[in-house]
Amino acid sequence: MPACVVMSDNTDLLVNYFTMSYLSGKNILLGITGSIAAYKSAELVRHLREAGASVRVVMTAGAAEFITPLTLQALSGHPVSSDLLDPAAEAAMGHIELARWADAVLVAPATANFIARRVHGRGDDLLTAVCLACEAPQAVAPAMNQSMWEDPATTHNVATLQERGIRVIGPAVGSQACGDSGPGRLLEPEVLVRHLENLFTTGILAGCRVLVTAGPTREPLDPVRYLGNRSSGKMGFAVAAAAVEAGAEVTLIAGPVALSTPQRVKRIDVVTAREMQVAVLDGVKGTDIFIAAAAVADYRPRDVSGCKLKKSAGKLTLELERNPDILAMVAGREKAPFTVGFAAETESVELNAQQKLQAKSIDMIAANQVGENLGFEADDNALQVFWDGGSVQLERARKTRLARQLVELVAERYHHKHDNDTVIKLHAKDPA
Ligand SMILES: Cc1cc2nc3c(=O)[nH]c(=O)nc-3n(C[C@H](O)[C@H](O)[C@H](O)COP(=O)(O)O)c2cc1C
Repeated sequence: MPACVVMSDNTDLLVNYFTMSYLSGKNILLGITGSIAAYKSAELVRHLREAGASVRVVMTAGAAEFITPLTLQALSGHPVSSDLLDPAAEAAMGHIELARWADAVLVAPATANFIARRVHGRGDDLLTAVCLACEAPQAVAPAMNQSMWEDPATTHNVATLQERGIRVIGPAVGSQACGDSGPGRLLEPEVLVRHLENLFTTGILAGCRVLVTAGPTREPLDPVRYLGNRSSGKMGFAVAAAAVEAGAEVTLIAGPVALSTPQRVKRIDVVTAREMQVAVLDGVKGTDIFIAAAAVADYRPRDVSGCKLKKSAGKLTLELERNPDILAMVAGREKAPFTVGFAAETESVELNAQQKLQAKSIDMIAANQVGENLGFEADDNALQVFWDGGSVQLERARKTRLARQLVELVAERYHHKHDNDTVIKLHAKDPA
């Protein structure tokens, strides 16, 4: 079958993703294969970056015949990878590292040949090997001649990818450069970006109001000093972003952190534990889910000096008093939301987490060991999540990915509880 030039100009789904993209801050691995439509990948990289994503490109040998790696390197700002068995490339960012780096993989354009290789689990080039090793959501955007697209082998292969959870984006229908007309044109880059955004939006918390706390609190000693902790807020901010992707309306109450507000999140900044308490109790009314990821100081200095404390020869003794237990307060409310706590522990993680779960009567607790580049300040974390009658280990991963996994769990347990409550209420109303 003769190869065919594939072109497309579908702009139906154009959106203003520049100001509100779910791709902001995401790592997108763009695979390019040997289709004439590969020239559109250059534009695609530009749009992905404008939407706030970091982009790394992996090309097949075929793709490099259509567009140069240099173009993609210049546009993505990163070296382009194409060789699986290149020791230098593996030493820089190997295929497993690339697979772990990606928040999503998009292969655009995807040839009939690539789709077939993917179906068969081949890993004999860098792109298929990365796809096999990658646990993040994946999508392919086919581009080929309409007869190639309608060939039973391709139809079967595409259906198989879909059954396995790989999103197939397009193709568009229309005239093709070879003179044919029909399905097989690569969707326009703007449209691909819009579809890629949808990979991150699950809708599992659609219609829910979620309140998240994040970061440390600072308890002043005098006008220039405070007691604080090493929380960076990254986990809580990632949870807030993941809850938005899950379709929730999200309010984030943040202690002093150096992080930008995730898209579509309403943010309230506080400094002390008592300010956080006020903000939480104010915001919790009508909230369905409360996720307390902030590291709230347990104690504050009893006396706050109005002027800077002076050095003296002797010891300085500070008297501390207890701060409010915000999590317990929320869980103890008459109409408490589904409440999730965090526990950062240096030892006996499971025991301490289980105790906190019981003592505070919360619905779920996410516990983590701090230290060894995990927990505070780090980009990675690992969590053990407990609830009444169950637990799950979320393996070490970037906090953004971990947050998505946690939000999935929260949604599952929240709906489970909600459904049970509804059944109990119905029984209570039943006069029989
Ligand atoms: C000019 C030309 C254009 C091509 N366009 C396409 C295309 O749009 N879609 C496709 O599936 N194959 C196309 N092919 C065939 C692929 O390049 C070929 O199957 C190649 O082996 C794909 O390798 P890859 O999937 O590893 O990139 C084209 C070939 C040529 C010579």
